[in-house]
Formats: sequence, C-alpha cells, structure tokens
Amino acid sequence: MAVRANIAGLSSPEALQRALVDAQYLADDALATSSYLALALGKPMLLEGAPGVGKTEAAKALGGVLGRQVIRLQCFEGIDAAAALYEWNYPRQMLAIRQAGQDHLNLYGEEFLLERPLLTALRNPATSLLLIDEIDRADHEFEAFLLEFLSDFTISIPETGTVRAMQPPVVVLTSNRTRDLHEALRRRCVYHWIDYPHPALEAQIVMARASRVAQATADAVVASVNALRAEPLAKPPGVAETIEWAEAATLLNGQGARWPDAFRRAIGVAVKDHDDMAYLAPRLDGLLPGEAA
Ligand SMILES: Nc1ncnc2c1ncn2[C@@H]1O[C@H](COP(=O)(O)OP(=O)(O)OP(=O)(O)O)[C@@H](O)[C@H]1O
Ligand SMILES: [Mg+2]
Repeated sequence: MAVRANIAGLSSPEALQRALVDAQYLADDALATSSYLALALGKPMLLEGAPGVGKTEAAKALGGVLGRQVIRLQCFEGIDAAAALYEWNYPRQMLAIRQAGQDHLNLYGEEFLLERPLLTALRNPATSLLLIDEIDRADHEFEAFLLEFLSDFTISIPETGTVRAMQPPVVVLTSNRTRDLHEALRRRCVYHWIDYPHPALEAQIVMARASRVAQATADAVVASVNALRAEPLAKPPGVAETIEWAEAATLLNGQGARWPDAFRRAIGVAVKDHDDMAYLAPRLDGLLPGEAA
C-alpha cells in the first residue's frame, strides 16, 4: 500500500486541522487524525454519527482543503447501480434513430451517456472527492456493489468497455447508523465516529458560522442544546440547530425581545418534532438558555 505522508502540502494531522479551520470546519483532534490517515493510506473514510454532527460538512470541507471537487452520491432506499454509475439517454437515442435515417449510427457514444457520480469520480480521480452520503439508507445489495467498486475502482460498461481509475479517488462515506453496515465494507475504510462536539468547540463553531452572535449567547445556547440532547427526544438538535438558534434568538433580541423569551420564541429552529415539543413544553423554563448578553 502506498503511504503518502504529505497530501496536498499537508504534512500532519495538525496541518490538516489548521487547513480545515480556514475552510470554516472545526475538527477535533480525533477527526483530523482519522482524516489525515485515510488520505495518507489512500483508504476511504467512513464517518458515522447522529444527524447533524457535521459528517457531510466534513467531507465538503476536506474537498475544499484538497482543492478537489466534491462529487456527491446521495443514497436512498432502492438506489441501484444505474443511478450511481451511468444510464443511457433513451429519449436522445430515439431521437437520433429517427433523424439518422439510413446513416450509420453509434447509439452508445459519449453523447448518449448520462454520467452518474461513481463514473464521474472514476474518470476524474485526481481532482475529485467522492462523497457517498448516507449509505445506511441504501439496501444490502447496493452496499455489496459499492464494496466491489471500492475494491478495484473499475466499472464495466458492456457497450463501450471498462473504465478504470488511474489512481484511487479520495472517498468519504457517511452513515447515520440507522442500520449496521457490512463488516467487509467497514474493514476497507478508516472509521471515525463523530460525536456532538465538546461544548467549547461547539461554541467556537457557532462563532465561526453564525453572523452577529455574541460569545455569551453562543455559550448559553450550547449549554442549553446539550441539556436538550440529554432529554429523551426523537430528534435531538444537531450543530446546525445550535447555530441557527443562536442566530434566530439574536435577531429577535435585536428587535426588542428579552433574553430567555427570545430563545423561547425561536425554539422552532432548534426543536423540530411535535412530540418532542409536547414533551418539552412543561420543562422548557429549566432548559432554555439563561441570560445572554
Ligand atoms: N465541526 C464543524 N465545524 C463547522 N461547522 C459545523 C461542524 N459540524 C457541523 N457544522 C455545521 O452543522 C451543519 C450540519 O452539518 P452536516 O449537514 O454536515 O451534518 P450531518 O452529520 O451530515 O447530518 P445528517 O446526518 O443530518 O446529514 C453544517 O452545515 C455546518 O454548518
Ligand atoms: Mg449529512
């Protein structure tokens, strides 16, 4: 296996961590290390974690840092190889047949090929980062197909031949862990579990991502969001909710709403489930952020 210590000028996990900050992504040491190792070892990285902890964003930020275009394959129930690889443009082929008359016609030329994310990544391995998002939504069959793809980075197109990547592309997979992934797929990857960020880091994320939010507000919102996450909610707030809650409450406060009330009125950006709201309603006073300058 080829190990590359220096990836796009990044010579260590710390260097990658700093570069990610410039891309407005605040990774903790563990995530920076896993990402660096995945790149150095030339292996796919598998990011698992609760909704909204920053899995997709981590892949996008890595793409930015590496100067690679992020090619995203969004998985869904029933996704098949055609949706992931390529399809033939039937309407266009039909039209061409009608127009061609007696002329010779190659129905399987490039102009009829609809490239899907995996093929795009294979054709541009040096300039792309392939993001296979929410793989747990796909079924086992598709997972087995992906495993094969990640093993040899080769696609066989019966009508035109085989496409083989000159080098393995950078690959990031994400999963919300709605089901367990196959052992063989895990084994192929560098694995990292993204947890909710440490409060100090989450407050920094709010300050980096939100506009016009005071540090005291960020701290108070983070404390409150962590209290909410400790409650038995169906949809605990993710990092995006923390950022938006701080922003929304700041906006209302600027228009005259007093502090705890500004948070209460903006609760819809933090808690987005009716049953969760019903559960929280009688407890909310003790959970809202307190005074926030
Ligand atoms: N470490 C971080 N640094 C900066 N921003 C972050 C970080 N983590 C999360 N965010 C913010 O939180 C938002 C949500 O993150 P993201 O969409 O990546 O979560 P996810 O884990 O992919 O969630 P889902 O499972 O719902 O797809 C991002 O758009 C970004 O604004
Ligand atoms: Mg995501």
